[in-house]
Amino acid sequence: MNSLLIDVLDGKKVDRPPVWLMRQAGRYMPEYMEVRKNVTFLELCKNPELAAKVTHQPVDILGVDAAILFSDILIPVEPMGVRLDFDPAPVISNPVRTQKDADRLSILDPYKDVPFVVETVKLLVKDLKVPLIGFSGAPFTLACYMVEGGGSKNFIEIKKMMHNDYKAFNTLMEKLTISTIRYLQAQIDNGCPVVQIFDTWAGILSPCEYAEMVLPFVNILVDNLKNAHVVYFAKDSATFYKYISNLKSSCIGVDWKIELDEADIQLGKGKFVLQGNMDPVILFTNKEKIRNIARLIVDKGKRLKGHIFNLGHGILPNTPVENVKYLVEVIKNGCQ
Ligand code: CP3
Repeated sequence: MNSLLIDVLDGKKVDRPPVWLMRQAGRYMPEYMEVRKNVTFLELCKNPELAAKVTHQPVDILGVDAAILFSDILIPVEPMGVRLDFDPAPVISNPVRTQKDADRLSILDPYKDVPFVVETVKLLVKDLKVPLIGFSGAPFTLACYMVEGGGSKNFIEIKKMMHNDYKAFNTLMEKLTISTIRYLQAQIDNGCPVVQIFDTWAGILSPCEYAEMVLPFVNILVDNLKNAHVVYFAKDSATFYKYISNLKSSCIGVDWKIELDEADIQLGKGKFVLQGNMDPVILFTNKEKIRNIARLIVDKGKRLKGHIFNLGHGILPNTPVENVKYLVEVIKNGCQ
């Protein structure tokens, strides 16, 4: 068993940073497209054998030090009471806009509502030789999709709800927080030693909105998870670090807008293991550039409590696979 990721999260000294990549399974990989051509994305997520197969692909093909469960952050919100589709971006055709809409949502029972996720975790932990990372969306990021009805440019509907109808927003956030605690704990209880919370849209807020209306729910979520390391990844959130510094997670995911040593200072020197933080677009450039930037990041990582090498956001479609393989090799060879 490769335990590099767990060793770093446990605070042990290691010879090189563990490496895994957000969205390491997906459309940039021909082996994924081969599986995906016969099923829709939702069918893939709901089929434990196929989901386990594509979870394995980046471990076998790239040689990364961790697997991440193949699913989507929106899978658990469908059984709460929204109609979900992917085209390939998510679309919710009955968005949550009022108190009545929020009241109507149910709280997730993962074993009853998303048994295929539990089944996929069980299948994977039987034969994986690397740790399996479970994940969820953070309550606010899930609320953005549920209120906007999909992705958004200006996030007018969610911000309107936060300021015009805080009670409805609060009801939605409470239901999402309880559901997410149950969802992540089910993944942990069935074999995930690490879970990552994706707060992709945190960065659309002002620091004050984030601190007052969003972070309290993240704190409740993290405080209620037992028996696993938690990674909190909030994109575009470097201006919120003074608030995030009190979070009880093991690790913070960092995007490329801030350097790792500067992030560490703002988060309270040595408090957290940091994960990141190469711009995924660098993977479209060339090997020399990839190696040089990887080396800079690894060097900064040496000054931290612990460093997990990753991108600052997910791998993009059309990323050249050979560059992704090269990046993983470079990290494993100590950036020579
Ligand atoms: O990281 C992995 O390899 C595990 C799988 C994973 C997916 N989505 C698969 C996926 C994970 C961890 C996610 C998380 C996710 N999903 C996030 C948070 C991370 C981030 O990128 O900010 C968000 C915001 C979503 C919502 C989502 N799902 C979007 C915006 C899209 C469309 C855009 C895109 O990149 O395709 C999806 C679809 C999706 N999720 C695909 C995959 C492989 C593509 C679906 C397909 O096969 O057509």
